[in-house]
Amino acid sequence: MEAEANLKIAVVGVGAVGASVAYALAMSGLVTELVLVDINQAKAEGEAMDLAHAAAFAKPIRIYAGTYEDCNDAGIVIFTAGASQKPGETRLDLLQRNYAVLKESLPKLQGGSGDRIILLVSNPVDVLTYAALKITGLSPEKVFGSGTVLDSSRFRHSLSRHCGVAPRNIHAYVVGEHGDSEVLLWSLANIAGTGIDRYCRLAGLPPVNRQEVDGHVRNAGYEIISRKGATYYAVSLAVKQICESIIRDENTILTVSGLIDGAYGIRDCCLSLPAVINSKGRGRPLELPLSREEEAALRRSAEILKEAIKRLGL
Ligand SMILES: NC(=O)c1ccc[n+]([C@@H]2O[C@H](COP(=O)([O-])OP(=O)(O)OC[C@H]3O[C@@H](n4cnc5c(N)ncnc54)[C@H](O)[C@@H]3O)[C@@H](O)[C@H]2O)c1
Repeated sequence: MEAEANLKIAVVGVGAVGASVAYALAMSGLVTELVLVDINQAKAEGEAMDLAHAAAFAKPIRIYAGTYEDCNDAGIVIFTAGASQKPGETRLDLLQRNYAVLKESLPKLQGGSGDRIILLVSNPVDVLTYAALKITGLSPEKVFGSGTVLDSSRFRHSLSRHCGVAPRNIHAYVVGEHGDSEVLLWSLANIAGTGIDRYCRLAGLPPVNRQEVDGHVRNAGYEIISRKGATYYAVSLAVKQICESIIRDENTILTVSGLIDGAYGIRDCCLSLPAVINSKGRGRPLELPLSREEEAALRRSAEILKEAIKRLGL
């Protein structure tokens, strides 16, 4: 008999991102129990109350503010606690502050079963995922980050607008750091199995301006933060998508961030590559055929992340 999926999720850090993740999960009907944990207990309580009052409009779900102990029997713990970027700040600028939060919080999560998955969202997500692996000693299958799942969606959104094709019919990945050194994989981007340039020719469209799309994707976070102070809706749906793949054992390919152990000659750092996500967690990252430039850019991204890891003394 197959094991039943664990339908309890814990969200640690219930700020803009954590609350949006909780909202997306509560509305999804995927989970039966949602526990919200925040150093600001009143905030967690307020968010839990507000969400729970949607009871008449959503599938039955128990939502409450809780403690780290309440996370022990959750199937997935989503970590969104810590500082977010202020206008002009890079994700890597958050390194020391959010590492301190992680170091304080994660040991309190040690009571769970070996099956529990820890999903990092706080930035810099790649470095914090690496730190979380070191702090918990858990398997890289079970500890990974939301990585460039959001960036890949932004890439598909930009191509969708140019090509007039639904984003779900566009296959395009962003890999590497979730941040300034991320790499858009133009060589693999396709619509119905056809490369983007060729598709545009067939559809009678002008070629895509790659530099412009690259700028839109890479700078999207900065652009949003400069206007409204934070980003949270799209990332919360990226997180919901990851949880759905786990809970429903979907074998979905997503560019999550996790330990890289040899792919493209990169070792001992976390970054995003496409990987199969299912109820066990993150499968082996796929070493897809990249162009020489893309591979070099990916290695540069890995070097930047390794430097950041070194700054933490890990
Ligand atoms: N990975 C992504 O794609 C992505 C996208 C957007 C934001 N983020 C990141 O998510 C994180 C959260 O962003 P936000 O906008 O929600 O920030 P926010 O300031 O609105 O919320 C952070 C929350 O963390 C809580 N917190 C702080 N220290 C804590 C601790 N020790 N234990 C428990 N809770 C604690 C705070 O009380 C607050 O409620 C940031 O690091 C941000 O950069 C990641």
